[in-house]
Amino acid sequence: MQEKFEEIRKRALEEAKQVDSLNTLNEIKAKFVGKNGEVTSLLRSMKDIPNEEKASFGKLVNDLKEEVNKFFNEREEYLKNKELESKYSKEAVDITLPGKKKSVGSLHPLNIVRNKIIDAFTGMGFEIFEGPEIDTDYYCFQALNIPKDHPARDMQDTFYFNDNILLRPHTSPGQVRTMENKKPPIKILSPGRVYRADDDASHSPMFHQIEGLVVDKGVSLCDLKGLLDEFVRKIFDSDTKTRFRPSYFPFTEPSVEVDVTCCKCHGKGCSLCKGTGWIEILGAGVVNKKVLEMSGIDSNVYSGLAFGLGIERITMIKYGISDIRTLFENNIKFLNQFDRR
Ligand code: DAH
Repeated sequence: MQEKFEEIRKRALEEAKQVDSLNTLNEIKAKFVGKNGEVTSLLRSMKDIPNEEKASFGKLVNDLKEEVNKFFNEREEYLKNKELESKYSKEAVDITLPGKKKSVGSLHPLNIVRNKIIDAFTGMGFEIFEGPEIDTDYYCFQALNIPKDHPARDMQDTFYFNDNILLRPHTSPGQVRTMENKKPPIKILSPGRVYRADDDASHSPMFHQIEGLVVDKGVSLCDLKGLLDEFVRKIFDSDTKTRFRPSYFPFTEPSVEVDVTCCKCHGKGCSLCKGTGWIEILGAGVVNKKVLEMSGIDSNVYSGLAFGLGIERITMIKYGISDIRTLFENNIKFLNQFDRR
């Protein structure tokens, strides 16, 4: 009997070693420990064993069964691992290959500067108001104290659709539309596209402006100076200084043009500032009382300040760009030079 057990054990081990596919493993295993397997039938023959040997016989068969199961389970594990390994090696990726780089877009320099300007002013409590690009003669001129045939219209050679409708030549109509719709205190910024029949290295028929307007009790030229000083320090270097020069705009009285110390030479004089140390950046002033009144604001109670700046101009000064047209050519090499954040 002992020999028979040993022979089955050996054969099971041998056959388990030879199985090389998971599909056939169970079949072969069943030959030994399946329902009609050799070891199972040994158990069945228990009834023919004399009573006093039953216990030791049962133990031997059970040990054999356990061992045979172990052989096949170990083989199953081994085959499963082998299968996984071959699957992994087929799916392997060559991690030494260089990856495919995704090119990330960047903001256009004009948007970078526009966002910076908006951040600077919203930080001082300004709200954004955007007006229409196609507007009427009234909003673009008359309500800003520029009557028909006024010589100040020559400053802006404009695209008209007809006598009354035009592409706005500046963002100043935003002042009027705000004052008509909002009671003081008013503190708004109006950014957007504007259009003029102009085209050379420093002028483009379409460009961008930002208008600023503050209306409240007791607003003065001093407030304008304070606001603009803060603004230029945020946009240019923190040591940048401003200077007001007297000027003329029909919608402000008094009117000023605002210069900043040249960001290239810091006031010493260079080619960018044409040797003067100063660069003009915007027009501004105290809102003309006539303009307040025309928009329904009592000029005896309220006063205002306004300013208008060109985003292209500020961008060109900030980055030392000499030709405005490069901003609109969409040349990737040019655009890639600017901050990606
Ligand atoms: N609208 C003027 C222009 O386009 C700029 C300007 C000057 C706006 C003075 C203002 C201002 O609000 O007060 O040239």
